[in-house]
Amino acid sequence: MNLDDRRLGLLREMGLTAWVPRHAGSAPDAPAVAAADGPVAAAPGPEGLAAAPPEALPPRGTRPSGIEQMDWPALREAVAGCRACALCESRRHTVFGVGHEQAHWMIVGEAPGENEDRLGEPFVGQAGRLLDNMLRAIGLTREAAPPQRQVYICNVLKCRPPGNRNPEPQEVAQCEPFLKRQVALVKPRIILAMGRFAVQSLLRTTEPIGRLRGRVHDYEGVPLIVTYHPAYLLRNLPDKAKAWDDLCLALDTLQARP
Ligand code: URA
Repeated sequence: MNLDDRRLGLLREMGLTAWVPRHAGSAPDAPAVAAADGPVAAAPGPEGLAAAPPEALPPRGTRPSGIEQMDWPALREAVAGCRACALCESRRHTVFGVGHEQAHWMIVGEAPGENEDRLGEPFVGQAGRLLDNMLRAIGLTREAAPPQRQVYICNVLKCRPPGNRNPEPQEVAQCEPFLKRQVALVKPRIILAMGRFAVQSLLRTTEPIGRLRGRVHDYEGVPLIVTYHPAYLLRNLPDKAKAWDDLCLALDTLQARP
């Protein structure tokens, strides 16, 4: 599929019919081995055995040290056991991330919602379906594929804020080292930051999305494109056209890189 086909497909997936050509280019594709990074699964308890004494939990307010040196297994374990903020009390699962550990594209959302909290995987609800459709239209997927095609998806917060309320600044601050380490381990070629909280916390700004879209930002040396959150797009259909422009900018930025 060439780039024009892809973009036409994206317009279709996003419910748009207008077509404004930007510039043609080649599609990202190349062979490689995929390594999926699955959701955190709840371990089934041993049935019929006397209950083991509960393991002592670290006190609330403690975050694992040495995050910036952790490898994938250590980081995943640190997130699963994190008790740095009050969200650990209400979560069902931490939501670490999913996708290729060397993905060229990294998608960063805000925080798990109810479905994500239940399943331990990011973007599995209605907004996730829109995200998957948008990704599919430009040849990307969260399913097993080479790193050019399989994205890595995660959130700023790894635990669900109760009732899907907005993340608190201290929750974002406590969780940030995990995301920073995920970026360092994936080494993506492009980051797509979706929604106000992802954008503002990654870019350390209070500027609204509308003023940050349309240009290439930088996060830890990685080009970052700002776009709307899929949940917002579900409520504001006309802005899908802008999200389409953002995806085109991300494609162009990636293809312009040496
Ligand atoms: N919204 C997000 O930002 N992240 C998810 O994982 C789900 C919904």
